[in-house]
Amino acid sequence: MKILLLGSGGREHAMAWKIAQSKKCDQLFIAPGNAGTTAIGENVSIGVNEFDKQKDFVVTNGIDMVVVGPEVPLVNGIVDAFRADERTANIPVIGPSKQGAELEGSKDFAKGFMKRHNIPTAAYETFDGTTIEEGVAFLKTLKAPYVLKADGLAAGKGVLIVPTLEEAEKELRDMLGGMFGQASAKVVIEEFLSGIECSVFVLTDGKHYQILPEAKDYKRIGEHDTGLNTGGMGSVSPVPFANAEWMKKVEDRIIRPTVEGLAADGIDYKGFIFFGLINVEGNPMVIEYNCRMGDPETETVMLRLKSDLVDLLEGVAKDDLDQRKVEFDERAAVCVMLVSGGYPQAYQKGYVIEGLNEVEGSIVFHAGTKMADGNVVTDGGRVLAVSSYGKNKEEALHKSFTEAQKIRFKDMYFRRDIGQDL
Ligand code: AMP
Ligand code: GLY
Repeated sequence: MKILLLGSGGREHAMAWKIAQSKKCDQLFIAPGNAGTTAIGENVSIGVNEFDKQKDFVVTNGIDMVVVGPEVPLVNGIVDAFRADERTANIPVIGPSKQGAELEGSKDFAKGFMKRHNIPTAAYETFDGTTIEEGVAFLKTLKAPYVLKADGLAAGKGVLIVPTLEEAEKELRDMLGGMFGQASAKVVIEEFLSGIECSVFVLTDGKHYQILPEAKDYKRIGEHDTGLNTGGMGSVSPVPFANAEWMKKVEDRIIRPTVEGLAADGIDYKGFIFFGLINVEGNPMVIEYNCRMGDPETETVMLRLKSDLVDLLEGVAKDDLDQRKVEFDERAAVCVMLVSGGYPQAYQKGYVIEGLNEVEGSIVFHAGTKMADGNVVTDGGRVLAVSSYGKNKEEALHKSFTEAQKIRFKDMYFRRDIGQDL
């Protein structure tokens, strides 16, 4: 099979690494990819939202399957665009339709979906520019802290958690006044939930589903979860509290109702579902849905997935996912993200990365790198994901931290407390 994978981050390098191990994959292209993916497949300089160029490439090169890494092309309707073109209508594109991607693309849609299908989530209401005063009144019925969410995609910045009613009211007015542009034309206000978070990943063909290894990610830039939110500073799998009993609740109360709900609503969804969950006194609740894999969770999930990923993706394409087997590696996997100094605010790019060849025993997934004059250089805030196996998370973390110190680039930073709260 010839596969085209779309994306350029650590998630896509990890997926490429796993796809390339499959006997079913003859050739792998990554568009646009990064310096890490060039070692595994062939990078193609086409952007993730360039649907016409992607379709031409698929036709010209006889691609058998397209795998979509990030959410933006899915929310923009890549699946529908391939279907609408008779040349590519029968090429499976792993990911939901535009309507299915609304689970991530619109918080209001996702909350309405959960309410309709009795899926546990925080109580909420949605407001727009014509209902600001109703929004203020709703805030007054809630307890601090206050959670306000821009309805649309806001590059991970659209969720505000504020301590006082005064600030919440101000933020609500600012958001509806265009703080996040069109993304905050509607705002979801919801009840604050307290607990530890866990990311659960599922593949579905629209009828059947398979549960992949779960993971926990670390979002804040500073140790002990302080400072600004980032795309994710590391991840750990398995998550100790996500034991068989807890996962059974997740499956019965959340996963099955979601897959059945999508089918009942007539929503075409064949791809990954990422359940952002929170454990509230032993009970899982949904914080958010994403319509793709997580990053940096994928860097540990792929390590722990023993089964052939391409076989599973083929199950999605052929609607026989129930006939395929998911096996987990018993070992723990962790990833520690090396980031550019200054991230998630302003940072420099283009610094030469040294020491990659000295790493032994960890797998280094590239997140934001490129080749320049024969060197691997930094090309993003999140630069490298140092990923390791261990008989337990402590052993895996020790390995990642040891190997991370062999890698050098100017102003490199990483969190040394990944996994310590578990
Ligand atoms: P989201 O983009 O919806 O995942 O929100 C970003 C982060 O905000 C989540 O990972 C949580 O840490 C936090 N968060 C979102 N909604 C809530 C909530 N209702 N209660 C507590 N924390 C929340
Ligand atoms: N790690 C969280 C995300 O991918 O959105």
